[in-house]
Amino acid sequence: ALISMRQMLDHAAERGYGIPAFNVNNLEQMRAIMEAADATDSPVIIQASAGARKYAGAPFLRHLILAAVEEFPHIPVAMHQDHGTSPAICQRSIQLGFSSVMMDGSLGEDGKTPMDYAYNVDVTRRTVEMAHACGVSVEGELGCLGSLETGMAGEEDGIGAEGQLSHEQMLTDPEEAADFVKATHVDALAIAIGTSHGAYKFTQPPTGDTLSIQRIKEIHTRIPDTHLVMHGSSSVPQEWLDVINQYGGEIPETYGVPVSEIVEGIKHGVRKVNIDTDLRLASTGAVRRFLAQNPSEFDPRKFLKATVGAMRDICVARYEAFGTAGNA
Ligand code: G3H
Ligand code: 13P
Ligand code: NA
Ligand code: ZN
Repeated sequence: ALISMRQMLDHAAERGYGIPAFNVNNLEQMRAIMEAADATDSPVIIQASAGARKYAGAPFLRHLILAAVEEFPHIPVAMHQDHGTSPAICQRSIQLGFSSVMMDGSLGEDGKTPMDYAYNVDVTRRTVEMAHACGVSVEGELGCLGSLETGMAGEEDGIGAEGQLSHEQMLTDPEEAADFVKATHVDALAIAIGTSHGAYKFTQPPTGDTLSIQRIKEIHTRIPDTHLVMHGSSSVPQEWLDVINQYGGEIPETYGVPVSEIVEGIKHGVRKVNIDTDLRLASTGAVRRFLAQNPSEFDPRKFLKATVGAMRDICVARYEAFGTAGNA
């Protein structure tokens, strides 16, 4: 059944688990997520970016999610709009039937320019008023996502601050977070604690302090009733980078956020964990390997099926690691 994200995150907080929020653009990603949730008895957050709506078309995207709800009626699903850059965009998603929206007022409507606190409060508060009137949950964001190692927001197209970020900008301030939640009444708050979007988060193998767990603890202590969200939570599986590069790809050495650090964050109030890049990498690796190993094959269902399997394995691993499994 389609439910609001608030209900889902309240349950996660009560029981102390986290929920991965996977991005979808197509049928194969959708199937991978739902089959993994079905196999592990997990609640599901499906999120769609502005880029996804452009790629699939809003009606296709909407019906893809509704189809998932129809085929798996026993699994709770939240249909979430990722990184809305204006109240108007959020309003359009509510009209489309989303049960949750993100108003990312940390950046301007271009998705690139860091905005000041007053702007963020204003657009987020207005979105909450509109969304709550419709029974829809709202995620806000405070602080600028950026890798504590590189000071960059990430190389992905779409959402991310331009240029070099300061250490200060990349860590959400706990007092400001408390003020923000009070002023806006958001249901969930995305915080900056050292992650960035995309595959190029860190240049060195992780040594256990990729994230500022300390800052997560400080924010959670200050606003214990607010569900925290971690963006840029892909782990960038080295085994999939190897497969991609073995079969003709050229992806330079790069590292993501270790699952163990995300699990630590979940112990301190992180409830929603955004993952997109890992499924993209698995999918690309699976296609490259399948076509290289089956050069005479030309039925797209064959290589697309390989992507479903690869993505499903990652989803199952995250549902199990984050404690989502068994909570549908
Ligand atoms: O936050 C970014 C998500 O990974 C979505 O990326 O805008 O390329 O669909 P996208
Ligand atoms: P990744 O690029 O690390 O998968 O993060 C996705 C995300 O935060 C979507 O909002
Ligand atoms: Na989001
Ligand atoms: Zn994000």
